[in-house]
Amino acid sequence: MRIGVYPGTFDPITYGHTDIIARSLQIFDTVIVAVAPNPSKRPLFDLAHRVKMVKHATRGLQRVRVEPFNGLLVHHARKRKAQAVIRGLRATSDFEYEFQMTLVNRKLDRSIETVFLVPSQEYSYLTSSIIKEVASLGGPLDDFVHPYVATQLIQKLRRQHP
Ligand code: COA
Repeated sequence: MRIGVYPGTFDPITYGHTDIIARSLQIFDTVIVAVAPNPSKRPLFDLAHRVKMVKHATRGLQRVRVEPFNGLLVHHARKRKAQAVIRGLRATSDFEYEFQMTLVNRKLDRSIETVFLVPSQEYSYLTSSIIKEVASLGGPLDDFVHPYVATQLIQKLRRQHP
């Protein structure tokens, strides 16, 4: 059985992320979406909330598991008997960081490969930060995130800036 781990902060999950998950399912039998706490990014949503939103956004996709993880990504991947880490590559600007991360992960655990997938062009400019900015300025979110995520974003930002 081929298992891939797709890690990220997912603050929040976007259609760009779900595009990568759907593509991964063509290669892997099971895709584990691993949600990192990543406190250094000062996420808008807490970890449990981010996991919940990923579950909603991937509900229609079979063979997807969603869970939080702590510590090193490669440790989590090994614990889950995954063969590979999955990463989305959107633009050349992603490359340097991804290259560095891949080589560090390989140094930490030689047995885990990293697989890069390119999202659909319409999502190649998305980031979670840009979507939070659009949401905070009252822009439409329908093209970027699942309706449940859009509702959570609006409610969260309204609570922060009533
Ligand atoms: N579509 C839309 N947006 C995407 C995307 C896609 N396909 N892929 C990435 N993004 C966005 C993310 O939402 C994020 O946006 P933001 O910066 O505005 O929040 C941005 O691109 C960068 O995302 P990413 O590169 O995936 O970083 P991340 O913060 O989501 O995840 C981890 C990084 C969790 C994978 C990494 O920190 C990690 O492995 N942590 C565990 C600790 C560890 O093992 N460290 C050693 C690793 S070398």
